Amino acid sequence: MTASALLEPDPERRAALTRAVMAQTGLDRPAIAAFLRDFYGTARRDEVLAPAFAGVADWERHIATITGFWCSVALMTGEYHGRPMQAHAHLALTPGHFARWLEIFERTARAHFTPAGAAHMLEKASRIARSLEMGLVPLDLTKRG
Ligand code: HEM
Repeated sequence: MTASALLEPDPERRAALTRAVMAQTGLDRPAIAAFLRDFYGTARRDEVLAPAFAGVADWERHIATITGFWCSVALMTGEYHGRPMQAHAHLALTPGHFARWLEIFERTARAHFTPAGAAHMLEKASRIARSLEMGLVPLDLTKRG
């Protein structure tokens, strides 16, 4: 048995987990995909975020990638195998970018999902955003105590 086989839940167990989360939250792939279209429709035109999104060459490809990412994160489908940290490394993101991203994400999630669905997505989004921010934004030591 390989190491990854030890770490990955077996397909039946994974499918059962996915069904349980879907039942508890009302989330599913079509709802997540529609939410993401709306979220990126707003985010890419937002005055703070637009410059960082200006280099996206193929939005349909990005929506497909990000739908796989969110189905993996929120529904535990295990389909996303990318490297989010590297994808943002050249963007010079600041705490202001993350704050605005989360604000739009939260507003859009509350408009699309049940309260349980929005809470599930927001819990994941804020955790991942914090870890991306810690990895990507250099610490400003002049602001310490
Ligand atoms: C802070 C503001 C953010 C900006 C401006 C931003 C912008 C971008 C851009 C420009 C790309 C590359 C898209 C392409 O060229 O196709 C990207 C990819 C991606 N972003 Fe963000 N992002 C932000 C925050 C986040 C957060 C908080 C998450 C997760 C919760 C996230 C998840 C991803 C993922 C999964 C990808 C695809 C990586 C891959 O290619 O596998 N981003 N983002």
